[in-house]
Amino acid sequence: MPRQLTYTPRGCGYTVATPEVLEAEPGTSARGAQPAPTQVHVSWAGSPTTTFAVNWMSDADTKLSQVLYGTDQALVSAADGPATEAGPLGHQDGHTLVYSSLFPAGETRLHEVHVCGLMADTRYFYKVGGPGAWSKVFDVTTAPMAGTAGPFKFAVSGDSRDNPTIFADVQQRIAAAGPDFQLFSGDAVLLGASEGDWRKWFDATSTSGMAAEEVLARVPFLFADGNHESLSQIFLSRFAFPQELSDGESGEGEEWYSFDYGNAHFVVLNDSVSSSTVLTGSEPTWLRADLGKVDRQKTPWIFVMHHQGAYSCASNHGSNLAVRAALQPIYDEFKVDVVWNGHDHDYERSHPIRGFQVGSTEGALATEGADGVPVAESGTIYIVSGGAGASLYGSSTACFHTLKAESVNNYLIAEVDGRMLRVTAYRLDGSVLDQFTYSK
Ligand SMILES: [Fe+2]
Repeated sequence: MPRQLTYTPRGCGYTVATPEVLEAEPGTSARGAQPAPTQVHVSWAGSPTTTFAVNWMSDADTKLSQVLYGTDQALVSAADGPATEAGPLGHQDGHTLVYSSLFPAGETRLHEVHVCGLMADTRYFYKVGGPGAWSKVFDVTTAPMAGTAGPFKFAVSGDSRDNPTIFADVQQRIAAAGPDFQLFSGDAVLLGASEGDWRKWFDATSTSGMAAEEVLARVPFLFADGNHESLSQIFLSRFAFPQELSDGESGEGEEWYSFDYGNAHFVVLNDSVSSSTVLTGSEPTWLRADLGKVDRQKTPWIFVMHHQGAYSCASNHGSNLAVRAALQPIYDEFKVDVVWNGHDHDYERSHPIRGFQVGSTEGALATEGADGVPVAESGTIYIVSGGAGASLYGSSTACFHTLKAESVNNYLIAEVDGRMLRVTAYRLDGSVLDQFTYSK
Protein backbone atom coordinates (compact mmCIF):
# COMPACT_ATOMS: atom_id res chain seq x y z
CA MET A 1 0.00 0.00 0.00
CA PRO A 2 1.34 3.45 -0.82
CA ARG A 3 2.36 5.46 2.22
CA GLN A 4 2.48 9.17 2.81
CA LEU A 5 4.12 11.02 5.69
CA THR A 6 3.01 14.46 6.85
CA TYR A 7 4.84 16.25 9.66
CA THR A 8 6.11 19.60 10.93
CA PRO A 9 9.91 19.58 11.20
CA ARG A 10 11.16 20.79 14.58
CA GLY A 11 11.31 24.58 14.66
CA CYS A 12 9.75 25.01 11.20
CA GLY A 13 6.47 26.84 10.81
CA TYR A 14 5.31 24.71 7.92
CA THR A 15 4.18 21.19 7.16
CA VAL A 16 6.05 18.73 4.97
CA ALA A 17 4.09 16.14 3.01
CA THR A 18 5.69 13.39 0.97
CA PRO A 19 4.07 12.00 -2.14
CA GLU A 20 2.37 8.62 -1.79
CA VAL A 21 5.27 6.18 -2.08
CA LEU A 22 6.22 2.63 -1.03
CA GLU A 23 7.64 3.72 2.33
CA ALA A 24 7.75 7.08 4.12
CA GLU A 25 8.84 7.43 7.73
CA PRO A 26 11.00 9.50 10.07
CA GLY A 27 14.69 8.66 9.79
CA THR A 28 16.05 5.89 12.06
CA SER A 29 19.50 4.52 12.95
CA ALA A 30 19.31 1.68 10.40
CA ARG A 31 22.43 1.38 8.25
CA GLY A 32 23.03 -0.52 5.06
CA ALA A 33 26.28 -1.80 3.59
CA GLN A 34 27.05 1.45 1.75
CA PRO A 35 25.40 4.23 3.76
CA ALA A 36 27.34 7.17 2.27
CA PRO A 37 24.98 9.95 1.09
CA THR A 38 25.05 10.83 -2.62
CA GLN A 39 23.36 13.44 -4.83
CA VAL A 40 23.14 16.04 -2.04
CA HIS A 41 21.25 19.19 -3.01
CA VAL A 42 19.68 22.19 -1.25
CA SER A 43 16.57 24.30 -1.74
CA TRP A 44 14.02 26.22 0.31
CA ALA A 45 10.63 25.13 1.57
CA GLY A 46 10.45 27.92 4.15
CA SER A 47 11.89 31.41 4.43
CA PRO A 48 15.30 31.74 2.72
CA THR A 49 16.28 33.94 5.67
CA THR A 50 15.93 31.25 8.34
CA THR A 51 15.75 27.83 6.66
CA PHE A 52 17.17 25.45 4.12
CA ALA A 53 16.06 22.00 2.97
CA VAL A 54 18.41 19.27 1.84
CA ASN A 55 17.75 16.02 -0.06
CA TRP A 56 19.99 13.09 -0.87
CA MET A 57 20.04 9.42 -1.86
CA SER A 58 21.52 6.39 -0.09
CA ASP A 59 21.54 2.62 -0.37
CA ALA A 60 18.25 0.81 0.19
CA ASP A 61 18.80 -0.16 3.86
CA THR A 62 20.15 3.11 5.25
CA LYS A 63 17.56 5.19 7.09
CA LEU A 64 19.91 7.78 8.62
CA SER A 65 18.17 11.10 7.82
CA GLN A 66 19.98 13.75 9.83
CA VAL A 67 21.74 17.06 9.29
CA LEU A 68 24.52 18.45 11.49
CA TYR A 69 25.17 22.15 10.94
CA GLY A 70 26.85 25.21 12.38
CA THR A 71 28.87 28.27 11.53
CA ASP A 72 32.19 26.70 12.54
CA GLN A 73 33.43 24.42 9.78
CA ALA A 74 35.92 22.56 12.00
CA LEU A 75 33.26 21.74 14.60
CA VAL A 76 30.83 20.49 11.97
CA SER A 77 33.56 18.42 10.40
CA ALA A 78 34.63 16.81 13.70
CA ALA A 79 31.21 16.04 15.17
CA ASP A 80 29.68 12.57 14.77
CA GLY A 81 26.14 13.13 15.99
CA PRO A 82 24.02 14.66 18.72
CA ALA A 83 25.78 12.73 21.50
CA THR A 84 29.16 14.22 20.68
CA GLU A 85 28.04 17.73 19.83
CA ALA A 86 30.18 20.49 21.26
CA GLY A 87 29.73 24.22 20.87
CA PRO A 88 27.10 25.86 18.74
CA LEU A 89 26.18 22.93 16.55
CA GLY A 90 22.67 22.28 15.35
CA HIS A 91 21.10 18.95 14.60
CA GLN A 92 17.90 18.17 12.75
CA ASP A 93 16.07 14.96 11.92
CA GLY A 94 14.12 14.42 8.72
CA HIS A 95 12.37 11.70 6.81
CA THR A 96 13.24 8.91 4.44
CA LEU A 97 11.17 7.42 1.66
CA VAL A 98 11.32 4.66 -0.94
CA TYR A 99 9.65 4.69 -4.33
CA SER A 100 9.65 2.16 -7.12
CA SER A 101 10.56 3.04 -10.67
CA LEU A 102 10.61 1.35 -14.04
CA PHE A 103 13.65 2.82 -15.81
CA PRO A 104 15.54 0.94 -14.42
CA ALA A 105 13.12 -1.29 -12.53
CA GLY A 106 13.89 -1.10 -8.83
CA GLU A 107 13.53 0.89 -5.67
CA THR A 108 15.21 4.12 -4.62
CA ARG A 109 15.73 5.42 -1.07
CA LEU A 110 15.86 9.16 -0.53
CA HIS A 111 16.23 11.41 2.50
CA GLU A 112 14.99 14.92 3.21
CA VAL A 113 15.70 17.25 6.14
CA HIS A 114 14.36 20.75 6.80
CA VAL A 115 16.64 22.96 8.90
CA CYS A 116 14.91 25.97 10.47
CA GLY A 117 15.52 28.72 13.02
CA LEU A 118 18.72 29.96 11.36
CA MET A 119 20.26 33.43 11.53
CA ALA A 120 19.86 35.74 8.55
CA ASP A 121 22.70 36.39 6.13
CA THR A 122 24.88 33.68 7.66
CA ARG A 123 27.05 30.99 6.12
CA TYR A 124 26.30 27.55 7.59
CA PHE A 125 28.42 24.47 7.17
CA TYR A 126 26.51 21.20 7.16
CA LYS A 127 26.74 17.51 6.50
CA VAL A 128 24.01 14.91 5.99
CA GLY A 129 23.53 11.26 6.90
CA GLY A 130 24.11 10.14 10.48
CA PRO A 131 26.72 8.87 12.98
CA GLY A 132 29.52 7.05 11.23
CA ALA A 133 28.08 7.76 7.79
CA TRP A 134 28.21 11.47 7.09
CA SER A 135 28.62 13.19 3.75
CA LYS A 136 31.44 15.63 3.22
CA VAL A 137 30.89 19.10 4.65
CA PHE A 138 29.08 21.57 2.37
CA ASP A 139 28.03 25.16 3.05
CA VAL A 140 24.90 27.18 2.37
CA THR A 141 24.19 30.85 3.15
CA THR A 142 20.87 32.22 4.41
CA ALA A 143 19.24 35.29 2.85
CA PRO A 144 19.42 38.75 4.40
CA MET A 145 16.35 39.94 6.33
CA ALA A 146 13.34 40.29 4.02
CA GLY A 147 13.07 43.81 2.63
CA THR A 148 16.84 44.33 2.63
CA ALA A 149 17.69 46.31 -0.49
CA GLY A 150 20.59 44.13 -1.52
CA PRO A 151 22.80 43.64 -3.37
CA PHE A 152 22.15 40.01 -4.24
CA LYS A 153 22.33 37.90 -7.35
CA PHE A 154 20.69 34.79 -8.72
CA ALA A 155 21.20 32.56 -11.74
CA VAL A 156 18.59 31.33 -14.22
CA SER A 157 18.76 28.36 -16.58
CA GLY A 158 16.54 25.61 -17.93
CA ASP A 159 16.10 22.63 -20.25
CA SER A 160 19.10 20.42 -19.57
CA ARG A 161 17.08 17.36 -20.54
CA ASP A 162 19.27 14.68 -22.15
CA ASN A 163 22.66 16.34 -21.85
CA PRO A 164 23.88 16.17 -18.23
CA THR A 165 27.42 17.19 -19.21
CA ILE A 166 26.25 20.55 -20.56
CA PHE A 167 24.04 20.89 -17.48
CA ALA A 168 27.13 20.41 -15.28
CA ASP A 169 29.08 22.87 -17.47
CA VAL A 170 26.29 25.41 -16.86
CA GLN A 171 26.41 24.66 -13.14
CA GLN A 172 30.16 25.21 -13.12
CA ARG A 173 29.77 28.56 -14.89
CA ILE A 174 26.97 29.59 -12.54
CA ALA A 175 29.02 28.68 -9.46
CA ALA A 176 31.90 30.81 -10.70
CA ALA A 177 29.56 33.83 -10.77
CA GLY A 178 28.76 33.29 -7.08
CA PRO A 179 24.96 33.60 -7.05
CA ASP A 180 22.98 33.45 -3.82
CA PHE A 181 20.55 30.95 -5.36
CA GLN A 182 19.37 29.73 -8.73
CA LEU A 183 16.15 29.36 -10.68
CA PHE A 184 15.59 26.50 -13.11
CA SER A 185 12.64 26.77 -15.47
CA GLY A 186 11.99 23.05 -15.98
CA ASP A 187 12.78 20.06 -18.21
CA ALA A 188 15.79 18.86 -16.25
CA VAL A 189 15.49 15.37 -17.71
CA LEU A 190 14.00 13.77 -20.80
CA LEU A 191 11.51 11.63 -18.90
CA GLY A 192 10.49 12.73 -15.41
CA ALA A 193 9.35 9.19 -14.53
CA SER A 194 12.76 7.72 -15.41
CA GLU A 195 14.91 7.09 -12.35
CA GLY A 196 17.89 6.53 -14.65
CA ASP A 197 17.50 10.00 -16.15
CA TRP A 198 17.45 11.64 -12.71
CA ARG A 199 20.50 9.70 -11.54
CA LYS A 200 22.42 10.84 -14.62
CA TRP A 201 21.36 14.42 -13.92
CA PHE A 202 22.33 14.40 -10.24
CA ASP A 203 25.57 12.51 -10.96
CA ALA A 204 26.50 14.82 -13.84
CA THR A 205 30.07 16.01 -14.15
CA SER A 206 31.27 18.90 -16.26
CA THR A 207 33.65 18.73 -19.19
CA SER A 208 36.47 19.61 -16.81
CA GLY A 209 35.38 17.01 -14.25
CA MET A 210 33.46 19.06 -11.66
CA ALA A 211 30.52 17.23 -10.10
CA ALA A 212 27.23 19.13 -10.35
CA GLU A 213 26.69 18.17 -6.69
CA GLU A 214 29.43 20.64 -5.73
CA VAL A 215 27.05 23.41 -6.83
CA LEU A 216 23.68 21.80 -6.10
CA ALA A 217 24.69 21.13 -2.47
CA ARG A 218 25.61 24.80 -1.92
CA VAL A 219 23.42 27.03 -4.10
CA PRO A 220 19.68 26.64 -3.36
CA PHE A 221 17.89 25.43 -6.48
CA LEU A 222 14.29 26.53 -7.13
CA PHE A 223 12.62 24.63 -9.89
CA ALA A 224 9.47 25.02 -12.04
CA ASP A 225 7.74 21.88 -13.26
CA GLY A 226 8.31 21.32 -16.97
CA ASN A 227 6.37 19.19 -19.43
CA HIS A 228 9.13 16.57 -19.12
CA GLU A 229 8.81 16.42 -15.31
CA SER A 230 5.01 16.47 -15.32
CA LEU A 231 4.95 16.52 -11.52
CA SER A 232 6.23 12.94 -11.53
CA GLN A 233 6.50 11.10 -8.23
CA ILE A 234 10.29 11.08 -8.61
CA PHE A 235 10.43 14.85 -9.16
CA LEU A 236 8.19 15.52 -6.15
CA SER A 237 10.14 13.07 -3.96
CA ARG A 238 13.56 14.37 -4.86
CA PHE A 239 13.00 18.10 -4.32
CA ALA A 240 11.67 20.22 -1.46
CA PHE A 241 9.92 23.47 -2.31
CA PRO A 242 7.47 25.68 -0.42
CA GLN A 243 4.41 23.46 -0.13
CA GLU A 244 1.54 25.43 1.28
CA LEU A 245 -1.34 23.62 -0.40
CA SER A 246 -3.84 25.93 -2.09
CA ASP A 247 -7.20 25.19 -3.72
CA GLY A 248 -6.85 23.07 -6.84
CA GLU A 249 -3.12 22.55 -6.40
CA SER A 250 -1.50 19.13 -6.73
CA GLY A 251 2.00 17.88 -5.99
CA GLU A 252 1.48 18.13 -2.22
CA GLY A 253 1.52 21.90 -2.62
CA GLU A 254 4.75 22.01 -4.64
CA GLU A 255 3.00 22.73 -7.95
CA TRP A 256 3.28 26.51 -7.45
CA TYR A 257 4.83 28.64 -4.71
CA SER A 258 6.43 31.96 -3.88
CA PHE A 259 9.16 33.30 -1.65
CA ASP A 260 10.85 36.59 -0.85
CA TYR A 261 14.57 37.21 -1.17
CA GLY A 262 15.87 40.65 -0.16
CA ASN A 263 13.59 43.23 -1.79
CA ALA A 264 12.24 40.87 -4.44
CA HIS A 265 9.22 38.57 -4.57
CA PHE A 266 9.65 35.37 -6.57
CA VAL A 267 6.78 33.29 -7.92
CA VAL A 268 7.19 29.84 -9.45
CA LEU A 269 4.25 28.52 -11.48
CA ASN A 270 3.33 25.32 -13.29
CA ASP A 271 2.10 25.56 -16.87
CA SER A 272 2.37 21.82 -17.68
CA VAL A 273 -0.93 21.26 -15.94
CA SER A 274 -3.03 18.12 -15.63
CA SER A 275 -6.19 19.96 -16.68
CA SER A 276 -6.71 23.23 -18.52
CA THR A 277 -8.99 24.37 -15.69
CA VAL A 278 -5.92 24.63 -13.46
CA LEU A 279 -4.42 27.22 -15.77
CA THR A 280 -7.66 29.13 -16.13
CA GLY A 281 -8.91 28.79 -12.55
CA SER A 282 -7.08 27.71 -9.44
CA GLU A 283 -3.58 28.81 -10.41
CA PRO A 284 -4.38 32.38 -11.51
CA THR A 285 -6.67 32.69 -8.48
CA TRP A 286 -3.76 31.84 -6.22
CA LEU A 287 -1.37 34.05 -8.22
CA ARG A 288 -3.64 37.09 -7.94
CA ALA A 289 -4.00 36.59 -4.18
CA ASP A 290 -0.26 36.04 -3.77
CA LEU A 291 0.76 39.15 -5.72
CA GLY A 292 -1.90 41.19 -3.94
CA LYS A 293 0.00 40.72 -0.69
CA VAL A 294 3.25 42.23 -1.98
CA ASP A 295 4.08 45.67 -0.59
CA ARG A 296 5.84 47.29 -3.56
CA GLN A 297 7.37 49.99 -1.35
CA LYS A 298 9.36 47.36 0.54
CA THR A 299 9.47 44.82 -2.26
CA PRO A 300 9.75 46.70 -5.55
CA TRP A 301 10.69 43.68 -7.67
CA ILE A 302 8.38 40.88 -8.75
CA PHE A 303 9.86 38.01 -10.75
CA VAL A 304 7.85 35.07 -12.07
CA MET A 305 9.21 31.80 -13.44
CA HIS A 306 7.44 29.01 -15.30
CA HIS A 307 8.35 26.66 -18.10
CA GLN A 308 6.47 27.69 -21.24
CA GLY A 309 6.80 31.24 -22.44
CA ALA A 310 3.85 33.50 -23.17
CA TYR A 311 6.20 35.14 -25.68
CA SER A 312 8.68 33.18 -27.75
CA CYS A 313 9.79 33.36 -31.36
CA ALA A 314 11.70 30.06 -31.51
CA SER A 315 11.18 27.56 -34.30
CA ASN A 316 9.81 24.73 -32.20
CA HIS A 317 7.14 25.91 -29.78
CA GLY A 318 6.85 29.69 -30.01
CA SER A 319 4.45 31.64 -27.81
CA ASN A 320 2.07 29.64 -25.66
CA LEU A 321 -1.19 31.53 -26.17
CA ALA A 322 -3.08 29.63 -23.46
CA VAL A 323 -0.42 30.62 -20.95
CA ARG A 324 -0.52 34.18 -22.26
CA ALA A 325 -4.31 34.39 -21.92
CA ALA A 326 -4.32 32.91 -18.42
CA LEU A 327 -1.41 34.70 -16.85
CA GLN A 328 -0.51 37.90 -18.68
CA PRO A 329 -3.54 39.86 -17.39
CA ILE A 330 -2.23 39.22 -13.87
CA TYR A 331 1.33 40.12 -14.83
CA ASP A 332 -0.06 43.35 -16.28
CA GLU A 333 -2.29 44.09 -13.28
CA PHE A 334 0.55 43.69 -10.80
CA LYS A 335 3.28 45.08 -13.04
CA VAL A 336 5.48 42.01 -12.88
CA ASP A 337 9.01 43.04 -13.83
CA VAL A 338 10.46 39.94 -15.50
CA VAL A 339 9.03 36.53 -16.44
CA TRP A 340 11.64 33.77 -16.83
CA ASN A 341 10.83 30.81 -19.08
CA GLY A 342 12.44 27.90 -20.94
CA HIS A 343 10.80 25.21 -23.13
CA ASP A 344 12.24 26.72 -26.32
CA HIS A 345 15.89 25.79 -26.45
CA ASP A 346 17.47 29.14 -27.18
CA TYR A 347 17.89 32.58 -25.63
CA GLU A 348 15.28 35.29 -26.18
CA ARG A 349 14.46 38.64 -24.61
CA SER A 350 11.22 40.47 -25.37
CA HIS A 351 10.55 44.15 -25.59
CA PRO A 352 8.61 45.37 -22.55
CA ILE A 353 5.00 44.25 -23.09
CA ARG A 354 1.75 45.43 -21.53
CA GLY A 355 -1.69 44.39 -22.80
CA PHE A 356 -2.62 41.92 -25.53
CA GLN A 357 -5.49 40.49 -27.51
CA VAL A 358 -6.70 37.05 -26.46
CA GLY A 359 -6.00 34.45 -29.13
CA SER A 360 -3.95 36.84 -31.20
CA THR A 361 -0.29 36.75 -31.96
CA GLU A 362 -0.31 40.53 -31.87
CA GLY A 363 0.28 42.36 -28.63
CA ALA A 364 1.06 45.70 -27.20
CA LEU A 365 4.60 46.89 -26.80
CA ALA A 366 5.17 49.20 -23.86
CA THR A 367 7.18 52.39 -23.69
CA GLU A 368 10.80 51.40 -23.86
CA GLY A 369 13.97 53.07 -22.65
CA ALA A 370 17.59 52.57 -23.59
CA ASP A 371 18.68 48.95 -23.28
CA GLY A 372 15.10 47.94 -24.16
CA VAL A 373 13.92 48.20 -20.57
CA PRO A 374 10.55 49.44 -19.28
CA VAL A 375 10.09 53.09 -18.39
CA ALA A 376 8.37 53.59 -15.02
CA GLU A 377 7.18 49.96 -14.91
CA SER A 378 5.60 50.39 -18.35
CA GLY A 379 5.84 46.71 -19.24
CA THR A 380 7.02 43.21 -18.41
CA ILE A 381 10.13 41.67 -19.95
CA TYR A 382 9.79 38.00 -21.00
CA ILE A 383 13.02 36.02 -21.16
CA VAL A 384 13.45 32.53 -22.58
CA SER A 385 16.55 30.72 -21.36
CA GLY A 386 16.22 27.09 -22.37
CA GLY A 387 19.85 26.42 -23.12
CA ALA A 388 21.22 24.13 -20.40
CA GLY A 389 21.77 21.06 -22.55
CA ALA A 390 18.76 20.08 -24.64
CA SER A 391 19.19 20.12 -28.44
CA LEU A 392 19.00 23.72 -29.60
CA TYR A 393 16.07 25.13 -31.58
CA GLY A 394 16.22 27.80 -34.23
CA SER A 395 15.76 31.37 -33.01
CA SER A 396 14.40 34.46 -34.70
CA THR A 397 13.79 38.14 -34.04
CA ALA A 398 11.01 38.30 -36.66
CA CYS A 399 8.21 38.35 -34.05
CA PHE A 400 6.94 41.77 -33.01
CA HIS A 401 7.74 41.08 -29.36
CA THR A 402 11.31 39.83 -29.74
CA LEU A 403 14.19 42.15 -29.01
CA LYS A 404 17.07 39.67 -29.01
CA ALA A 405 17.39 36.01 -29.83
CA GLU A 406 20.20 33.52 -30.28
CA SER A 407 20.23 29.76 -30.62
CA VAL A 408 22.96 28.87 -28.16
CA ASN A 409 23.57 27.14 -24.83
CA ASN A 410 23.19 29.84 -22.21
CA TYR A 411 22.51 30.87 -18.61
CA LEU A 412 21.67 34.16 -16.92
CA ILE A 413 22.98 36.06 -13.94
CA ALA A 414 20.58 38.63 -12.46
CA GLU A 415 21.89 41.20 -10.00
CA VAL A 416 19.57 43.27 -7.81
CA ASP A 417 20.86 46.30 -5.93
CA GLY A 418 18.08 48.41 -4.46
CA ARG A 419 15.96 49.57 -7.38
CA MET A 420 18.51 48.49 -10.00
CA LEU A 421 18.34 45.18 -11.87
CA ARG A 422 21.08 44.02 -14.19
CA VAL A 423 20.60 40.85 -16.23
CA THR A 424 23.46 39.33 -18.17
CA ALA A 425 23.05 36.35 -20.48
CA TYR A 426 26.16 34.28 -21.09
CA ARG A 427 27.17 31.66 -23.59
CA LEU A 428 29.03 28.70 -22.14
CA ASP A 429 32.39 30.05 -23.28
CA GLY A 430 31.78 32.92 -20.86
CA SER A 431 31.11 35.52 -23.54
CA VAL A 432 28.22 37.94 -22.99
CA LEU A 433 25.25 37.31 -25.24
CA ASP A 434 22.96 40.01 -23.89
CA GLN A 435 22.85 42.47 -21.02
CA PHE A 436 20.47 45.11 -19.78
CA THR A 437 20.18 47.36 -16.74
CA TYR A 438 16.76 48.37 -15.51
CA SER A 439 16.46 51.03 -12.79
CA LYS A 440 13.20 52.19 -11.33
FE1 LIG B 1 9.55 21.83 -22.33
